[in-house]
Amino acid sequence: MADNSKMEKVVSLCKRRGFIFQGSEIYGGLAGIFDYGPMGVELRHNIKQYFWQKFIVEREDVYGMGAAILMPEKVWQASGHTELFTDPLVECKICHERVRADQPEAISDHEKTHKKEKVEWTEPVKFNMLVGTKLGAAEKTANQVYLRGEITQGVHVNFKNILDSMHTKIPFGIGQIGKAFRNEITPRDFLFRQREFEQMELQYYIKPNEEEGMKQYEYWKQFAFDWYLGLGFKKENLRLRQHAADERAHYAKDAWDIEYNMPSVGWKEAWGIHHRADWDLRRHTEYSGVDMSYYDEETKERFIPWDVECSGGVDRAFLFVMLEAYTEDELGGEVRGYLKLTPKLAPVKVAVFPLLKNKPQLVEKAREVYQKLKKEFGAVEFDDNGNIGKRYRRQDEIGTPFCVTIDFDTIEKSTGVTVRDRDSGKQERVSEKDLVEYIKEKVL
Ligand code: GAP
Repeated sequence: MADNSKMEKVVSLCKRRGFIFQGSEIYGGLAGIFDYGPMGVELRHNIKQYFWQKFIVEREDVYGMGAAILMPEKVWQASGHTELFTDPLVECKICHERVRADQPEAISDHEKTHKKEKVEWTEPVKFNMLVGTKLGAAEKTANQVYLRGEITQGVHVNFKNILDSMHTKIPFGIGQIGKAFRNEITPRDFLFRQREFEQMELQYYIKPNEEEGMKQYEYWKQFAFDWYLGLGFKKENLRLRQHAADERAHYAKDAWDIEYNMPSVGWKEAWGIHHRADWDLRRHTEYSGVDMSYYDEETKERFIPWDVECSGGVDRAFLFVMLEAYTEDELGGEVRGYLKLTPKLAPVKVAVFPLLKNKPQLVEKAREVYQKLKKEFGAVEFDDNGNIGKRYRRQDEIGTPFCVTIDFDTIEKSTGVTVRDRDSGKQERVSEKDLVEYIKEKVL
């Protein structure tokens, strides 16, 4: 399978099987905006759940929070975004389309649209990516606010609130998942670069010294990398890469990306680990007038903590997981395309089929097994539509790890049910009483 056809196949599967739809599609769509369908929303939820479990629930030193999307202009002045959150923009002098100057693919794609005409570009200008709006009914007094350009600032502005309400001590972290908005000049590559997307982040506050900073930074780099591997990637398809000084965001003292080797595109950013030092808390202290320092009871020192940040895109993880999982092989003499998803991410964990739709005793037994599994695993489907082969293929395509079939032997000889494994296509007979445990062991 050619790499570029893999992306096309995944995009097509996403629409056909209810994972992703173009935003407002019936009105012609909105560039860089996507909607998640019934299967997509489950997979996305499972990615977020896995983040929440590993970065927050399982840790003693991390709290979760959920900040608002809208924040006043002052926040973004303090964080440096109104001034520095820019991308270089050039305009085509023929058709006036605007493109990001530092994206060679976007430039060359645009030049191809003009065929033999020689495209000339304007000089690059800095384009700010913040998405703004006004709040308040009276035009004159309405306030300029921004939809957050990174979810991070909602955490930093609450640093004192968390400290005071949770009575915690440094080092500690605050984790969050939520939507962020960027007026990307050239949204492209499906979910890769969108204008509305979701982030999952940890801000970890530490003592401001080089040794502690290095130790924590190395620790979280590895932690984030291991977490990303746990989404089901082959090790050779992920790497850590340090940013050159001119690549780093304005707030970063050091920055590394986890990159994924994206089919037909190459190494692309999946996740950023940033050493933000005291940038955010210092700037919020200056701009808000509220002291964001921390008093260390043991050393009797007062200081502005440093922040080590792990910041990942939910949608980007979703896209990379789909590209990694999409597999073609031959089964029973036919080519099949399926999603080899790690079971914890699969939108449906088990599907239950009666062998035949028109045999009431099979359907009744299958419903009973379905109810039992649904109570245990939630994401369970019942399907009695079409021949068994087709039902298997439908489940393979959405990445369901196991299919359970109820046949005549289940009822007449009490020999249990057939459990079919998605990847090997092999079937095993499992007794009804062992079924829940058998599946639990493999999917949770
Ligand atoms: N708080 C730090 C921060 O926002 P970033 O590198 O700008 O850092 C972090 O973004 C992650 O968010 C990226 O690694 C990527 O996964 C995701 N992301 C950023 N811009 C995106 C976009 N336009 N569309 C989809 N995901 C995006």
